[in-house]
Amino acid sequence: MRSHYCGLIGAAEVGQRVALCGWADARRDHGGVVFVDLRDHEGIVQIVADPDKADVFAIASKVGYEDCLRVTGTVRVRSNINDKIPTGRFEVVAESIELLNAARDLPFALHENPNEEMRLKYRYLDLRRPAMQKVMRTRVKLVQALRRWLDARGFQDIETPILANATPEGARDYLVPSRVHPGQFYALPQSPQQFKQILMIAGFDRYYQIARCFRDEDLRADRQPEFTQLDMEFAFVGERDVQDCVEALIRDVFLDVGGIELADPFPRMTWLEAMTRYGSDKPDLRIDLELVDVADAVKGLDFKVFSGPANDPDGRVAALRVPGGHELSRKQLDDYAAHAAKFGAKGLAWLKVEDAAKGLQGVHSPVAKFLDEATLAAILQETGAQNGDALLFGAGKWKTVGEFMGAVRLKVARERGLVTQTWKPLWVTDFPMFEYDETEQRYFALHHPFTAPKVDDTAALQADPGHAVSRGYDMVLNGHEIGGGSIRIHRPDMQSAVFGLLGIGEDEARAKFGFLLDALKCGAPPHGGIAFGVDRLAMLMGGTEAIRDVIAFPKTTSAQDLMTDAPSPIDAKQLAELHIQVLDPE
Ligand code: AMO
Ligand code: AMP
Repeated sequence: MRSHYCGLIGAAEVGQRVALCGWADARRDHGGVVFVDLRDHEGIVQIVADPDKADVFAIASKVGYEDCLRVTGTVRVRSNINDKIPTGRFEVVAESIELLNAARDLPFALHENPNEEMRLKYRYLDLRRPAMQKVMRTRVKLVQALRRWLDARGFQDIETPILANATPEGARDYLVPSRVHPGQFYALPQSPQQFKQILMIAGFDRYYQIARCFRDEDLRADRQPEFTQLDMEFAFVGERDVQDCVEALIRDVFLDVGGIELADPFPRMTWLEAMTRYGSDKPDLRIDLELVDVADAVKGLDFKVFSGPANDPDGRVAALRVPGGHELSRKQLDDYAAHAAKFGAKGLAWLKVEDAAKGLQGVHSPVAKFLDEATLAAILQETGAQNGDALLFGAGKWKTVGEFMGAVRLKVARERGLVTQTWKPLWVTDFPMFEYDETEQRYFALHHPFTAPKVDDTAALQADPGHAVSRGYDMVLNGHEIGGGSIRIHRPDMQSAVFGLLGIGEDEARAKFGFLLDALKCGAPPHGGIAFGVDRLAMLMGGTEAIRDVIAFPKTTSAQDLMTDAPSPIDAKQLAELHIQVLDPE
């Protein structure tokens, strides 16, 4: 049907007869000559129809936008060169044009900027757009490169079940009813975590899988309900073995696929340092702003908003310097406060430094009246604030202040153009094992219940779980968590102890993880691993801000597929077969 790709026509083809297939990107009628831009996945080439070939000319004159065509003709050098496209020095003089299929009543033109809903509903047209073709191809190349790298190093690509069992908490699982076992359910895997650990116990040594994962969680710009992991596991390793290996993988693949050079080695930061300096466990190091603790300076004030948290061992008072921020309007400051409030802030105090030499006379702030000269001097000194800067203050519980000040840091940087165009990877390590939930009055695993604690002693762990540090690690790039992993618990007593601390009783542990506890008793090797978010890697490499742009058929933020209309009701017969009764959604 075709001999060449449109976008690859070049000097070598001049004088040759070619057969091309593609879509009409544009048609121009120029004083008796008709030009059609024919587009395929490689690019665009200009087709010329001369009036002396009356039949071809007649068809060309009627070509419609996005019609699907087959064109034969001869390649020649173009008289008016178009530098904007790679084939711009050549054109094809048409000998035949066949309308393979017409395009009528398109919901939008590819050149337009259709809204998100239209893009998802008519995904085939959206994906036809060159920008989407490009980014999807980056994803294809990424996956190829990952596989090539891992295959060359002895990693075994092994598939694990999609119809799996529910996870410990059961929250966020997508469930699948069993027809043959009434009232019983499979769960789609949130990750292949337990299976890959079993593979290590089974002696496969190095495993990887490009695995689809399913999580019924609140969606954001970099989250989808089904997404793809590069999932890996290693036997007989410590954390540095895993980290060094995958750091080399990521560095090689970014260079290979994206031409992007990443630091060697990646910087490392503990979770505590990341939370303290950036208010985030995935700090965006492209932004040169840091949170500064000013509790010591404000401890003695009468202003309880500051002195309360400053004197509370679980409290924090943090300042963020905004360079040139004295120009911020009241509205902008209110916006920042509203943003902080979304993350739990009760307020966001500010202070503009007009002339530091004049002390309190030289600053402008609703809280100035609560400060004294010595406190102000200490704050200015610790934050390094200069004339013309502003300071934003967060006070409250340590965790809350980190969260809202971290969020404000990002908003300030984005709005004020303080995000540099660089690549900033890092490792975040030394996460807490557990997080205490005040409402539920119990511990949750910060990573997952299979992550090993640093203390290799169940009694020590049980004595002070709140301060236990885990052997987990995350890889972060430009403010996105691109991968997370850990060294695993490989002894049954420790695994039982951790289940116990998470409130998973012995019977429940037996019922849900008996297989794992049994397997750990069969000479399980020390092991560990990591999983990368392939969609997030593709998103970063493709230079897009939305994970939806790198997934061919993504879901909306309310987890719907607008093209196929999933999810959808099923009929009564099918429900009956599955032994399911649907309650009135009201
Ligand atoms: P974790 O839950 O950190 O670890 O997931 C690993 C990586 O997967 C990506 N990711 C997502 N990408 C898109 N949409 C989502 N909803 C989503 N959730 C996670 C992130 C993340 O870093 N079993 C462990 C890994 C291990 O311990 O080896 C796990 O799943 O980039
Ligand atoms: P108030 O005494 O609540 O009127 O607050 C006085 C100033 O302190 C206002 O500018 C508030 O925005 C600010 N403020 C109140 N609570 C906090 C907080 N938790 N952190 C930072 N600033 C706050």
